[in-house]
Amino acid sequence: MKRVMFTGGSGKAGRHVVQYLVDHGCQVLNLDTKPLDNPAVRTLITDITDSGQVFNALSSYMGLREFDPSLRPQPVDAVVHFAAIPRIMITPDNEVFRINTMGTYNVIEAAVKLGIKKVIIASSETTFGIVFNYEPRDPVYLPLDEEYPVDPPDSYALSKVCNEATAKSFATRTGADIYALRIGNVMEPHEYANFPEFFKNPEGRKRIMWSYIDARDLGQLCLNAINTDGLGYQVFNAAQDDCSSDLPTAELLRRFYPNVPVKTGLGEYETLLSNRKAKQMLGFKPVHSWRQALSERA
Ligand SMILES: NC(=O)c1ccc[n+]([C@@H]2O[C@H](COP(=O)([O-])OP(=O)(O)OC[C@H]3O[C@@H](n4cnc5c(N)ncnc54)[C@H](O)[C@@H]3O)[C@@H](O)[C@H]2O)c1
Repeated sequence: MKRVMFTGGSGKAGRHVVQYLVDHGCQVLNLDTKPLDNPAVRTLITDITDSGQVFNALSSYMGLREFDPSLRPQPVDAVVHFAAIPRIMITPDNEVFRINTMGTYNVIEAAVKLGIKKVIIASSETTFGIVFNYEPRDPVYLPLDEEYPVDPPDSYALSKVCNEATAKSFATRTGADIYALRIGNVMEPHEYANFPEFFKNPEGRKRIMWSYIDARDLGQLCLNAINTDGLGYQVFNAAQDDCSSDLPTAELLRRFYPNVPVKTGLGEYETLLSNRKAKQMLGFKPVHSWRQALSERA
């Protein structure tokens, strides 16, 4: 059994990832400013922008009840850090930057100084600089892979690039494994009902390269990352195998990115947020897709 401290487990993505980890035998303590309605997981109300709270929380007892036989803190195997302001236009830009960068610094610093050897952080496909640019912009090449030069034009993407630098710095200094997941557009199971509407307007998802990641498959990716040791600092894209469009990938490229060089051969519906590195190095095998979800609903 792995013991996992999870930040942001009450949120959209976190609640599914937490459930996946619990379903696969992990003990999880959720650190969030909001409660999580999951009887298998306790939430410790923690503000990650306060370093003292984070050190305290990461060194605390992980069990469910205050009258358990022992309340002694146990060794922690991994921290999965999802807590954040998850995009622009929710809070003022400076707050996105402050909360995301200070929160991530506090979580990684406390984890490695407490001797926790594995940290997984939620980064974002916005780091590539296409998603929240003022005007739509062509990428330098496609598909977006982990070598693509990040170029953040907004406070959210900038915060995530800073977080990746923070992660690399602590990994270099301490030898901890710290993996950043550049996550695509997260889909909860009920959201596949929206896909037929997406198909009517393919341009609507152009900025995100039609990427998506099923929240349960994101759970699989996090568990695989927890179970894969010794990679040092790494960045992995987190995406499903296909695009969130019913058009073939070559057709999306021809209609919406005709002047962008294509770096590799692509499958008929293959994602433009490449997930090949996560598949090769973490054994990621996404099992959910919009095709399967819509055929089950029919
Ligand atoms: N949803 C997406 O499509 C998407 C895409 C790429 C990356 N991400 C990243 O994945 C992570 C999770 O995203 P989400 O969609 O679940 O977001 P969300 O807003 O639904 O969840 C974030 C959680 O973080 C908590 N939180 C915020 N500030 C906090 C603080 N100061 N202290 C403690 N907890 C705090 C919130 O209460 C919430 O439960 C984020 O890091 C986000 O940037 C999300």
